Amino acid sequence: MNAPASSARTAAAPVPPQPAGQRGSTAAAAGAQPLLETRELTIRFGGHVAVNAMSCAFRPGELTCIVGPNGAGKTTYFNLISGQLPPTAGQILLDGEDLTRLPVSQKTRRGIGRAFQLTSLFPQLSVLENVRLAVQARQQRGIDLFSMWTSHRDVRAQALAILERVALAGKQHLTVASLPHGDQRKLEVGILLALQPRVFMFDEPTAGMSVDEVPVILDLIREIRQDRSKTVLLVEHKMDVVRSLADRIIVLHNGTLVADGDPAEVIASPVVQQAYLGMAEEEGNHG
Ligand SMILES: Nc1ncnc2c1ncn2[C@@H]1O[C@H](COP(=O)(O)OP(=O)(O)OP(=O)(O)O)[C@@H](O)[C@H]1O
Ligand SMILES: [Mg+2]
Repeated sequence: MNAPASSARTAAAPVPPQPAGQRGSTAAAAGAQPLLETRELTIRFGGHVAVNAMSCAFRPGELTCIVGPNGAGKTTYFNLISGQLPPTAGQILLDGEDLTRLPVSQKTRRGIGRAFQLTSLFPQLSVLENVRLAVQARQQRGIDLFSMWTSHRDVRAQALAILERVALAGKQHLTVASLPHGDQRKLEVGILLALQPRVFMFDEPTAGMSVDEVPVILDLIREIRQDRSKTVLLVEHKMDVVRSLADRIIVLHNGTLVADGDPAEVIASPVVQQAYLGMAEEEGNHG
């Protein structure tokens, strides 16, 4: 509640703050004001604290990878930021504005972009119609999606351009429900692009994708990161992906921020090695 606006790292972080200049966009981001900030953000489920006083600031032009073992609280942190879950305590600020108690729709309208769960969208509509509705929703600012069946040529053209970018142009007429998993993930990214958010949140965007599909998504994320007015948060388990994309890494463990900073330093830090080793040992001890 009373945390200073500039406080981007918790006292618990054993890895020193990241020096500027490792990558071009990081150097630009280093002096910038935070675009997104969480202060002491916390959620409890019964006695379990899934996200514990997360204080973190994300600057424009920065791609932050969020890593940590299974159950660390990464997805829950995203659910809090996007509004899917109400925090028990703490604050969420976008460009200094307090969005903590706003519903998902209001947060989306202000620029918090979380990949949709396609199963809860329009599974019986075509791929193109789903993206077109997202383009319309952004253009009309909060329009009732169900009332927008009339097609506009420019909206269609924009939707088709997005489908090209996510390599789904050839599948525009298929229903979402009939798409294989990898294509559904690509469509999630397409819908996110259509909404043009300021904060992009990707939760394991390439999970379940075949090897040849992965570069499409990674190239898109790289492209988004070039836009210095945006910030990208990426939850990712694959360390080769993290290494190739991250300007900064934060590490969650048992809902708590345990490291934050330069990718090479964070990956090499004992706390990360321990967190991942610990996970491996637990899995190895099963049964
Ligand atoms: N709605 C909920 N009700 C109760 N407990 C929950 C709820 N959502 C998450 N949790 C718990 O919070 C903890 C964090 O879960 P979360 O899904 O955020 O982990 P994660 O870091 O995303 O893990 P993974 O890498 O496996 O995706 C887990 O112990 C989970 O069981
Ligand atoms: Mg998760």
